[in-house]
Amino acid sequence: MIYQVYPRSFADSGGDGIGDLPGITSRLDHLAELGVDALWLSPFYPSPQADAGYDVADYRDVDPLFGTLADADKLIAEAKARGLRVIVDLVPNHTSSAHRWFTEAVAAAPGSPERQRYVFRDGKGPDGAEPPNDWVSVFGGPAWTRLPDGQWYLHLFDSGQPDLNWDNPEVRAEFLDVLRFWLDRGVDGFRVDVAHGLIKQADLADWQEPQEILSGSEVDKPRPPMWDQDGVHEIYREWRRVLDSYPGERILVAEAWVEPAERLARYVRPDEMHQAFNFEYLLAAWTAPAQYAVITRSLEATDSVGAPTTWVLSNHDVVRHASRLGLGTASGRANGVGVDDPQPDAALGLRRARAASLLMLALPGSAYLYQGEELGLPEHTTLPDEARQDPTWARSGHTERGRDGCRVPIPWEADAPSYGFGPTDASWLPQPSTWAEYALDRQRGVPGSTYELYRTALRLRREHALARGPLRFLSSGDEVLTFTNGDLTVLTNFGADPAPLPAGAQVLVSSAPLDDDAVPTDVTVWFRVV
Ligand code: NOJ
Repeated sequence: MIYQVYPRSFADSGGDGIGDLPGITSRLDHLAELGVDALWLSPFYPSPQADAGYDVADYRDVDPLFGTLADADKLIAEAKARGLRVIVDLVPNHTSSAHRWFTEAVAAAPGSPERQRYVFRDGKGPDGAEPPNDWVSVFGGPAWTRLPDGQWYLHLFDSGQPDLNWDNPEVRAEFLDVLRFWLDRGVDGFRVDVAHGLIKQADLADWQEPQEILSGSEVDKPRPPMWDQDGVHEIYREWRRVLDSYPGERILVAEAWVEPAERLARYVRPDEMHQAFNFEYLLAAWTAPAQYAVITRSLEATDSVGAPTTWVLSNHDVVRHASRLGLGTASGRANGVGVDDPQPDAALGLRRARAASLLMLALPGSAYLYQGEELGLPEHTTLPDEARQDPTWARSGHTERGRDGCRVPIPWEADAPSYGFGPTDASWLPQPSTWAEYALDRQRGVPGSTYELYRTALRLRREHALARGPLRFLSSGDEVLTFTNGDLTVLTNFGADPAPLPAGAQVLVSSAPLDDDAVPTDVTVWFRVV
């Protein structure tokens, strides 16, 4: 079970309102008590923060906002002392425009070796005033920006995130060295950002479709020229050889918004990455047939290449599942919720989120948790627009709220300034005034709290070796999903009527109180039949 720490929002030791590495170190006991196996840290590298650190200016250092390299070493050592493994984020698709390579490229002439590290092209039209192709940025607006000398550079994300040219051997060599830099410091692996984007179709052909990170390489659709090109795989094979040359198990995890599951499975073939995020699962509707289908498909696809299946419900890019499952729409990737949008039903969302998490934590493979979900934390859906910092909001011409609502700093103590996020009231995104009830100190030791539910589930997951499986479905009806994993039986009721438990069922944990011997709507229960 891997826990995602979003450094700027986890714990602030300095009081400037931005979380930092010493803050994370000071809260490692929480992660150990919760029962996580590993943490994945979102980027903490020097960065202008045009995309919350996913615009890296130096891959071998720590941004002063978050601390120092010595703080990173201390965090890794303290985590290890508690038996926690540490995975760091690697952002190879693009650098920041403040990276030395890009400033050199801008200063150099068109056609120079400095420009070959990125994707520079002349524009179209008589004076080259039109972008080289019609691609648009994932965050909205054109995917090309023009320099004063007339050339254009590609950025699939923000203009502050120029795409690297992975056909250039110098780029490949640089990242092998970056991998070694962090492996030498003792990290246990890398979460690879936009792993499906590094290689672009050589002709950079136009693509008339609207650009989304998950534009899907669905079987019946042509593959977009910027995503999931076959050439990415040899890069990961080379990286795998580097990781395998280090002692211990070091892992690569792909962030690849690729569909269908069979296509995603190619990233985790035996000589490539170890795991890939299962976004199809995150996006699946809250119905028994949809959950049955996605679980079955995911297991089949990863089994076919011998890799562990992964499960994820929330991260720093999507609406938190405690709110997403309380929205009218059953599925989909809402790109933020604003104050004048339909608001989620908080009670329904939390009830379903607890049921969904308990279902997820019973599945074989690797589960990924996002900080705060163990508190049942909702999305901040009434964040003032002036406070928004996600580039999506501006680049979409204020049509997409973006991801700030899931990135709000964590409440630790109900009655402390910034709910214990830091020593002062400062918080880089305002915390809702209603968050005291979610604070860790209001839930710790309280039977039935979301925190204690997660703790129990993680303890049982370990005791019953649920990560190992095997999973066997007993029912996949329209309303109830039942399966066994080892000696446990798991039942989720998606229907309107209570679902009876079988005779002799001995309940180990349930996501909400049962109704005599029946499982109410939107509840998951783990039991043994004795
Ligand atoms: C995926 C990351 O999770 C997201 O936060 C980021 O904006 C993009 N990649 C670009 O790096």
